[in-house]
Amino acid sequence: MSKRATRHRPVMPDEILEWLCPRAGQTLVDGTLGGGGHTRLLAEAVGSEGHVIALDRDPAAIALAADALAGQPVTLVESNFCELAEALEQIGVAEVDGVLLDVGLSSDQLADDERGFSFDSTGPLDLRFDPTSGEPAWRLLERLSSQHLANLIYELGEERYSRRIARTIVEQRRTNPIRTSADLARIVRRIVRSPMKIDPATRTFQALRIAVNDELKSLEIALRRMPDCLRMGGRLAVISFHSLEDRRVKQAFNEDPRWKVLTRRPLRPTDKEMAENPRSRSAKLRIAERTEAVS
Ligand SMILES: C[S@@+](CC[C@H](N)C(=O)[O-])C[C@H]1O[C@@H](n2cnc3c(N)ncnc32)[C@H](O)[C@@H]1O
Repeated sequence: MSKRATRHRPVMPDEILEWLCPRAGQTLVDGTLGGGGHTRLLAEAVGSEGHVIALDRDPAAIALAADALAGQPVTLVESNFCELAEALEQIGVAEVDGVLLDVGLSSDQLADDERGFSFDSTGPLDLRFDPTSGEPAWRLLERLSSQHLANLIYELGEERYSRRIARTIVEQRRTNPIRTSADLARIVRRIVRSPMKIDPATRTFQALRIAVNDELKSLEIALRRMPDCLRMGGRLAVISFHSLEDRRVKQAFNEDPRWKVLTRRPLRPTDKEMAENPRSRSAKLRIAERTEAVS
């Protein structure tokens, strides 16, 4: 039996342990299982008397972890984290001691040529976390108007060349449909001048990925519903990778009286971690504690 190993290295593991303070016997949630690195850390901390419930929308992540985490006190659930309350109800858990969300995509998803997350992949430009639901990105590029595409790339990618990119996509698709990530990256790289080491295609891909997975809506719903799943004093830790997400986390923590904010400013990876794991460079971690709402 072949057992694949994850390529994903968990981000800010020491900070997660320090701020979620997992203890033996606790019940915790990892809302974004990915390669299972954080889940394993939490499972080792709660021990055999404890329980970690790990969710992911991606059936491939669940399948990989089923092997890798066998024998750990972990329950795997294929679900969107915005439906955590329903998932807990199904497994008969009323409330939990802590929740981690590490949003975005994993290195395993990035490495899979069939899913299109990598800019140079020659498989279909799909970009869905759950390939069994919703619409792949190539179909969006085929169907949306130039105006709609431009708005999407501007709003979800904060890309200032959005209009030119959208116009070029619409012109090109008349004769030559865009089917792969490499096709799209080629178009964007001809238009966008990007400073430093950032690939010019980064913001356009980010926009399409957020759109096909409706990522900001999932995050907003999860943040709104999460206090109902946490016991008093339980903590929520959110690691995000771009400003659109971080802004929502900050706002939800500040505006909902059921949260006591523990991090006024987001925590960042150490220089050492950024050097060892370049993927961590843009990570921001915010933590809040469930508290009584004061009216
Ligand atoms: C950055 S990775 C998590 C990596 C993980 N912490 C680890 O240590 O390996 C993000 C994962 O969250 C999943 N994901 C993203 N949005 C989700 C959502 N709304 N609900 C459930 N899973 C989600 C993705 O499919 C991906 O596997």
